[in-house]
Amino acid sequence: MKIGVYPGSFDPITNGHLDVITRASHIVDELIVGVLQNPQKKPLFSVEERIEMLKVTTSHLPNVKIEAFSGLLIDFVKQHNAILIVRGLRAITDFEYELQMAQTNYNLDPTIETVFLATNVQYSFLSSSVVKELAQFGGHIENFVPPIVAECVWEKFKQF
Ligand code: PNS
Repeated sequence: MKIGVYPGSFDPITNGHLDVITRASHIVDELIVGVLQNPQKKPLFSVEERIEMLKVTTSHLPNVKIEAFSGLLIDFVKQHNAILIVRGLRAITDFEYELQMAQTNYNLDPTIETVFLATNVQYSFLSSSVVKELAQFGGHIENFVPPIVAECVWEKFKQF
């Protein structure tokens, strides 16, 4: 059984993430979406909220599981007997960081490969940060995140 891990912050999940999850779920038997819990970062959504949004928006994909992780990604990957890490590549600006991460992880364990999926061009500008910035100033986010996520973002910004 070929298990892959798609790691990220997902604060919150965007349509770009969902596109990568859907496509990656077709190339592995099981895809584990690893949601980073990093005490040094202050995300908009708690890890529980991010997991819930991911679960709801991927519920139609039977081979996708959502789990939190902290610490090193490579340890999380090994704990789940996964053999590959999936990352989306949006543009050349992503490349340097992604290459460094892939090479570091390869160095830590050469039995685990990182595979990049070229982001669908319609999402090449899209990130969770863009969604949060738009929402902060009342911009339209409904084309960029699933409807349930848009609701959660607006709900969150009402609290500030
Ligand atoms: O969605 P993001 O924020 O671009 O995801 C980044 C993530 C979670 C994949 C990356 O920060 C990560 O793997 N963090 C875990 C710590 C780790 O393993 N670092 C070593 C690899 S450079």
